[in-house]
Amino acid sequence: MTDQVQPDNASNKDRVLIFDTTLRDGEQSPGASMTFEEKLEVADLLDAMGVDIIEAGFPIASEGDFESVSEIARRIKNASVCGLSRAAPNDIDRCAAAVKHARKPRIHTFISTSPVHMKWKLQKEPHEVLELVTQQVTRARNHVGDVEWSAEDGTRTEFDFLCRCVEAAIRAGATTINIPDTVGYTTPEEYETLFRRVRETVPNSDKAIFSVHCHNDLGLAVANTLAGVRGGARQIECTINGIGERAGNAALEEVVMALKTRADILPFHNRIETTMLTRASRLVSAVTSFPVQYNKAIVGQNAFAHESGIHQDGMLKNAQTYEIMTPESVGVTKTSLVMGKHSGRHAFKEKLKDLGYELGENALNDAFRRFKDLADRKKFVYDEDIAALVDDEIVNANDRIKVVGLTVIAGTNGPQSAALTLEIDGEKKTHQATGNGPVDAIFNAVRALVPHEALLELYQVHAVTGGTDAQAEVSVRLSEGGKSVTAKGADPDTLVASARAYVAAMNKLMVKRGRGKPEEMRA
Ligand code: KIV
Ligand code: ZN
Repeated sequence: MTDQVQPDNASNKDRVLIFDTTLRDGEQSPGASMTFEEKLEVADLLDAMGVDIIEAGFPIASEGDFESVSEIARRIKNASVCGLSRAAPNDIDRCAAAVKHARKPRIHTFISTSPVHMKWKLQKEPHEVLELVTQQVTRARNHVGDVEWSAEDGTRTEFDFLCRCVEAAIRAGATTINIPDTVGYTTPEEYETLFRRVRETVPNSDKAIFSVHCHNDLGLAVANTLAGVRGGARQIECTINGIGERAGNAALEEVVMALKTRADILPFHNRIETTMLTRASRLVSAVTSFPVQYNKAIVGQNAFAHESGIHQDGMLKNAQTYEIMTPESVGVTKTSLVMGKHSGRHAFKEKLKDLGYELGENALNDAFRRFKDLADRKKFVYDEDIAALVDDEIVNANDRIKVVGLTVIAGTNGPQSAALTLEIDGEKKTHQATGNGPVDAIFNAVRALVPHEALLELYQVHAVTGGTDAQAEVSVRLSEGGKSVTAKGADPDTLVASARAYVAAMNKLMVKRGRGKPEEMRA
């Protein structure tokens, strides 16, 4: 058995470890897939932000998952890098191979323990599951010293059986025990009591760190997470923006700010640099193309906006009247219209730094060119405009298909038509198509230039800022052969933004399907 590893500072009884699963459970949200490069960028940011454990993916799921977990394992400097595996020898070995180059590797292995999962999903008797717990943890511990074991559907598991599984997992060498609320079913009181009782009942419970993992089906994920910590858990599993299966997971930014703001009654500390939360939220929203709802706690556009006269009056007298935390503490910079067409490259670079972006020379030059173009067309360039533009640039930097030109005929006298020029693997191609409206015409032109059978599942437009010259940000979700991807495009012209979004989604779909020629996109 490999030597047991205790995570840093685990001995401190009030220290909670932050385990981020944006790249694994988060990426499991339908349509939230990220490319290899995007995953690396998110992982780097999580590490810089002070996350303790990064769950980088599910290595057995695909070659792509394996490669991204391996690369993240190689490059991450501070955090532990973890991969997920089911209770099967191949899964565990593949996971071990993916994390083996990490400075601090972890294998996270799980099996269902609830009656409904054991009977219908696993089709196994409880004694067989118990046997597998010991086998899987033992196998994982032969690879690494840091092993997490999860009782999937833990909150619907029969209590005595849960305790027997936890005891067996710890005896076999698990260093972290996770009791997930897989289906978002529990309530705060119940979850807190569950942790307290399991820790009191299981004789070797002091040899492991207990972990919370909450889904948000009833909107209770963050409340349940904090309750689990009160019940003795010292690791929190969460995702940026709360993305994840179905209604998502507990949102990292909400959990961390609740701990910080209510340290008086939640005296648990962590290493997260909270001023990076807004940047992390923007990056994850950009790479998954999942918009953040306006009224989302901590990172929504309205989270620090005060509209009513009474509130504004109070704010002017003393911000504490209506603000329980400062915008600066979560990395919100003052929105201002400082940039315009006379702003130079240096000022642009400084602005990006304020907004939390650090671009390489080439990406900076491209972003600056697009900024100048935007400033020529739009009187005021706001922070949100720059963030949308740079996110677009980062996400699309390696695209094989690019929008080069678009002319549209729209209006009351149909048919509406679009002449679209794309650059496909360096070669320019143009096609003119008609459609039931200009957007339909554009999408028909794309389909003619790059034949494919993907279905359009979502088309959504929103304005980045106010005003009729605001940039439009369009989201497009395509699905093909059971795989779905979402992508965004931004431009002051809604039709150009639509073309960019559709083409960006196709680029993502190609990455997901492997490296074929764009013309061979048929399923
Ligand atoms: O929700 C869940 O049960 C999971 C496990 C794999 C930990 O994501
Ligand atoms: Zn989960």
